[in-house]
Amino acid sequence: MPKSQASDVVGKSASNQGGFYSDTVKEHFFHPKNFMEDEAGYEADGTGMVGSPACGDVMRVWIKVDPKTERILECKWKTFGCASAIAATSMMSVMVSENGGMTLDAARELKPQQIMERLGGLPARKIHCSVLGDKALRAAINDYYRKTGQTEKIEIEQGRIVDKVLKITDHDIEEAVLEGADTLEKVQAKTKVGTGDPACIPEVEQLIRFYKEKYCEMQKEDGSQ
Ligand code: FES
Repeated sequence: MPKSQASDVVGKSASNQGGFYSDTVKEHFFHPKNFMEDEAGYEADGTGMVGSPACGDVMRVWIKVDPKTERILECKWKTFGCASAIAATSMMSVMVSENGGMTLDAARELKPQQIMERLGGLPARKIHCSVLGDKALRAAINDYYRKTGQTEKIEIEQGRIVDKVLKITDHDIEEAVLEGADTLEKVQAKTKVGTGDPACIPEVEQLIRFYKEKYCEMQKEDGSQ
């Protein structure tokens, strides 16, 4: 990592250290694996970029793919996000490229919990940071399929409308949970979901439970929530 960026990131994230981070998280934060030093001239087979609605940070991922086996040969990434984003994406890049590389199909199925298990957990409030890397990876995989003419394999994650009045989707609920809203009241404070369409509230509560289980399992288990 270039010194200037490393100090930016370290400075920005210092307040998030304390006792919350495992040794593995610290190792991946201070010595990020597969960090993209200089993308100029790097010939990627697929690139993806996502921004976090929660904090405004941006994540970019580059992949090289074996065209015969469609396994990931290399996974590079770059972000100015926080320690959790750096550690989770560093670990993700290792997991998708180790042991001969994951197939694109397997990489697309990689779950945030699997990354967090290898990291030894992350603080619950940082979960939205930890999913940036795999979102950018899925965008890079779509880009690879686009570039290789396999458009039928492109998967666009479309939101399904839950609140018909305010046009709030399940993705909006997911983002709110990722930002730390773990009750209906907190999700409503962020989204106003259900205020004009109360009939959707049972479904919203179900979605909150679903996304909490999906993203926060590790935090419940290690008691850091
Ligand atoms: S706070 Fe922005 S990536 Fe973590």
